[in-house]
Amino acid sequence: MLIESQEDVTTAVLAGLEGTPDARIREILQSLVRHLHGFIRETRLTEREFQQAVGHVIALGQKTTASHNEVMLACGTLGVSNLVALLNNGQGGTRPTQANNLGPFWREAAPHCKDGESLLRSPVAGPPLFFKGRVLDTEGRPVAGVEVDVWHSTPEGLYENQDPTQAEMNLRGVFTTLAEGTFSFRSVRPAGYPVPLDGPTGALIRATGRHNLRPAHLHFLLYKPGYKTIASQVYPADDPHLETDSQYGVTKALVVDYALHEDGPAPAPDVTGPWYSIAFDFTIEAGDARRPRAPITAKAMAA
Ligand SMILES: [Fe+2]
Repeated sequence: MLIESQEDVTTAVLAGLEGTPDARIREILQSLVRHLHGFIRETRLTEREFQQAVGHVIALGQKTTASHNEVMLACGTLGVSNLVALLNNGQGGTRPTQANNLGPFWREAAPHCKDGESLLRSPVAGPPLFFKGRVLDTEGRPVAGVEVDVWHSTPEGLYENQDPTQAEMNLRGVFTTLAEGTFSFRSVRPAGYPVPLDGPTGALIRATGRHNLRPAHLHFLLYKPGYKTIASQVYPADDPHLETDSQYGVTKALVVDYALHEDGPAPAPDVTGPWYSIAFDFTIEAGDARRPRAPITAKAMAA
């Protein structure tokens, strides 16, 4: 069609997509165009703002490296990551779920660990943490043989991929649930951390006047054929940023009490001071097991 008005542009593009052979791709593209054009009309986007938006998308890509995923960070900052996680789990977004966004820091091929092993591969100062997890199906029955990836930041708030002083794969490990669906590991209690502000996502956060902190959390990825793979995060109930998470990740289903043990025997003889423990159950649904594409593939090198 020959375009005569601004309205005609949308009609023409939608018609142009009609011949897309794959029905799902056609549905996604037509919906994207309807919403994108609607957004431009609603905001009366100016030419200057359009050029700024193009520059922003370019910067997202240019900031992304093997050890940093700025695009995933931006998706979290706009709530997109967690919306996708909640919509696709908990029986299609109708029930609470332990699924949560994967975040930008999962790496494939972390070392496989024996039950109870430590995640520390180089020294990390901080209060000892002993985590006991259980994986159940939707009927409450234990699921054995689930591969559970665990990863988290140091109490200084850095993942090993961001920090050349940490050993390769520090604070990362893969555990396998035992007959009763249990797994356990030792680590140190993580702290909350600021998401990086030195890229376009930082500019976005600054423009909104929000803080860039995440509450402390442990990351999990649960995989077993026959069950829908879920990423998850577990947050401590006493964190001050649960309701203002810069990545909009915290859900009620994922807030736990860290039990503080001031005295009494710790689960390991080398622990002399206070230590923490967590007990947490994950539920997984029947479905397709598929590991996500890793948002990063390498560790940052020393400058
Ligand atoms: Fe994280």
